[in-house]
Amino acid sequence: MAVHRVAVGIIGAGPAGLLLGHLLQRAGIESITVDIRSERHAMARVRAGVLEQTTVDLLREAGVGDRLAAEGLRHEGLYLAFDGERHRLDLADLTCGRAITVYGQNEVVRDLIAARRAAGGRMLFDAELVTLADLDADRPRLHVRTADGEDTFVCDYLAGCDGFHGISRASIPPSALRVYEHVHPYTWLGILADAAPAAPELVYCLHDDGFALSSMRSAGVTRLYLQCAAGEQLDAWPDERIWRELRARLHMHDGWMPNEGPILQKGLTGLRSFVVEPMRAGRLFLAGDAAHIVPPTGAKGLNLAAADAWRLARALEDHYRLGSDAALDAYSDAGLRRTWRAQRFSCWMTSLLHRPEGASEFDRRRQLADLDYLVHSRAAMTSLAENYVGFPLA
Ligand code: FAD
Ligand code: PHB
Repeated sequence: MAVHRVAVGIIGAGPAGLLLGHLLQRAGIESITVDIRSERHAMARVRAGVLEQTTVDLLREAGVGDRLAAEGLRHEGLYLAFDGERHRLDLADLTCGRAITVYGQNEVVRDLIAARRAAGGRMLFDAELVTLADLDADRPRLHVRTADGEDTFVCDYLAGCDGFHGISRASIPPSALRVYEHVHPYTWLGILADAAPAAPELVYCLHDDGFALSSMRSAGVTRLYLQCAAGEQLDAWPDERIWRELRARLHMHDGWMPNEGPILQKGLTGLRSFVVEPMRAGRLFLAGDAAHIVPPTGAKGLNLAAADAWRLARALEDHYRLGSDAALDAYSDAGLRRTWRAQRFSCWMTSLLHRPEGASEFDRRRQLADLDYLVHSRAAMTSLAENYVGFPLA
């Protein structure tokens, strides 16, 4: 078994782990990134699509924004739809020129992997086994087994960026963590379709049958989501049923409805809220989905992961450059503040736009009144807009 010495061991090559490795590399801090999945899997996984202005600025300043600037779709507004009408919120006008950019998570991951490779960054994909040890010691260890053999990385710090199901959080004694969890009683059925988006901006829609969302990935590819019951199975959703339901929910009085085309990909996602406190155990720091999950209605998960990576990279830079651990000590509290704010927003968007099973007529009318207030009050629209485009990094 080979033993190596490295400053930071990063577990997980998703957006959080790759961005952290990239930012550390730019600061002259050496790291190793390990992942149990293949590089191809990381680059192919269809997930998030909406980048906050904050994330776009961060990626540009980190030198990985060229393709994003060329191919990302900048949206200065979004639509809220209910009762067969679409209402546009002018995000840029409400937030002094800020906006969101539609750019697939797989493209962000592709750009980050390319940047890590170009800079000679060390990444190990396809690990068969990853274990963490000595989290409380001065030199925590990362053991990795691949088809080529076993390696131990003796590190100063470990970064757990391995998502909700990863090994990092699971390596912390449960008594050292407090977990907050809420499972929302909905599933999202998401599809990618080979069809031009019918609207140039996102349409978030509440219908009597439930939530629907029209998004996109490019000028020729539409991304659509439908609320279904918790525990739903894909087998129950042949393509024809999906289109029927999308048409019913998204058809507006003015004739607008999504364009249809061959379905390229489909998947189900349960809606979950999860926060672990603190985001640190000894010399292991948790970042991204390893520490928190928000329901996707607010489009915040990837953006929170990027903010964690930025904060952790800055804190480690302070440690190595200035010999100060103040930012490392503040990492968890600052992250939890941002997380709970995103959690609040994402839960609010979810309850605003989803129809719970067994909802009463009173619930229905109150929900419509919420939406009606939202699209007619500049104060209410501003609140949604400032949360959606993202708060400055801190
Ligand atoms: P992940 O992307 O989960 O990456 C974790 C990595 O760790 C993976 O590569 C995995 O292979 C690896 N790993 C796992 N276990 C181990 C192990 N034991 N050892 C080593 N490596 C391991 N967010 C938004 O901001 N905007 C959106 O529009 C949005 N839409 C979404 C739509 C859907 C349908 C879904 C499911 C999510 C959406 N999200 C959105 C959330 C977003 O995709 C996640 O928050 C984001 O992927 C988190 O990044 P991460 O790097 O923390 O974790
Ligand atoms: C997406 O395009 O995948 C998307 C857009 C907005 C969301 C969630 C996902 O809130």
